[in-house]
Amino acid sequence: MIRRLFVLFFFLHFLNGCSIQAKDKLLRTFFDGVPAPGKASPIVKGEHKQENQGVKTEKVVPQAPIQFIHQPFLENQCDVCHDTKSSQKLVLKGKELCFSCHDDFTKDKKIAHYPVSEGACIDCHDPHQSGNKFILKEALPKICFNCHDEKEIRANVVHEGQNICNDCHNPHASNEEKLLK
Ligand code: HEC
Ligand code: HEC
Ligand code: HEC
Ligand code: HEC
Ligand code: HEC
Repeated sequence: MIRRLFVLFFFLHFLNGCSIQAKDKLLRTFFDGVPAPGKASPIVKGEHKQENQGVKTEKVVPQAPIQFIHQPFLENQCDVCHDTKSSQKLVLKGKELCFSCHDDFTKDKKIAHYPVSEGACIDCHDPHQSGNKFILKEALPKICFNCHDEKEIRANVVHEGQNICNDCHNPHASNEEKLLK
């Protein structure tokens, strides 16, 4: 794994000298796909967008390197979630898929967080891997502000200087008002 990271590092270094187009093409080839079976090794996720000479090319903005890999993905068990190893079709929908392995943490709680009750687990979690703890698609508190207006949250004095939202709120479900722990 370390060796792979090394190779990747030098590869990226080398790319710095290439033209944007070549870089983009290469990086896309490398990073847009899901690792081939058995190769769920750490890779760098890229976001792409850039205008170049009127032609739409995409620039790679490196994000946090992948460090957190969902265990069944790491173990190459694609077909516990997908129809077959090479199909993108899922065996179950929404939270049913997730609760086929994880305990349903909503069932003994009075309130569930709206995206959880909708089964939108993947609004917050990447089903495969991520650079954020708990395979979150984005780090806390940023991920919360995708849906909650940051200004409004900050306007409430209880939130002054608070960034670790899950210190006080359960992101999934709770017996208390406002999903408090
Ligand atoms: C824990 C369940 C789970 C496992 C294990 C899993 N996937 Fe997925 N996969 C998903 C879900 C859920 C989506 C839908 C993601 C979305 O819509 O954003 C998905 C989407 C995909 C996609 C569509 C593109 C993308 O990344 O969104 C591909 C390709 C894919 N998976 C390949 C794989 C391969 C290959 C493996 C095994 C190495 C694998 N998956 C293992 C749940 C899983
Ligand atoms: C095939 C069984 C399986 C399925 C299906 C599954 N998981 Fe997991 N998941 C695991 C295992 C095993 C672990 C690692 C042990 C643990 O933390 O329970 C894990 C861990 C996690 C973690 C903690 C990761 C960490 O870094 O601490 C999250 C978050 C998670 N899963 C979310 C999901 C979501 C969301 C879905 C549905 C898209 C899902 N899981 C579907 C088996 C599964
Ligand atoms: C609003 C964002 C959000 C949604 C939606 C969400 N989660 Fe999470 N999840 C988190 C955060 C944040 C953590 C970090 C640990 C914590 O604070 O409890 C977490 C942790 C986890 C963990 C690992 C630790 C634990 O608490 O068991 C699992 C497994 C998990 N989530 C599964 C799911 C499943 C399954 C769903 C859908 C039913 C889901 N999550 C929906 C934000 C979310
Ligand atoms: C995918 C969108 C989405 C994300 C991401 C999200 N939320 Fe929510 N959340 C909602 C919706 C929708 C409601 C219900 C409507 C409302 O009360 O604002 C809600 C309700 C809440 C409530 C209860 C509000 C009340 O008045 O009872 C709290 C607390 C909360 N969210 C905290 C969080 C935290 C903390 C995070 C980040 C871990 C987060 N949310 C991420 C959509 C989201
Ligand atoms: C120190 C504990 C604490 C932390 C950390 C915290 N909250 Fe809260 N939050 C509360 C309390 C207490 C309430 C209820 C306040 C009230 O009723 O006035 C609340 C209420 C909310 C509500 C309901 C709407 C509102 O403003 O009353 C949302 C949404 C929310 N929090 C989101 C977040 C998000 C997002 C974060 C991370 C940036 C966060 N909270 C961090 C304690 C906390």
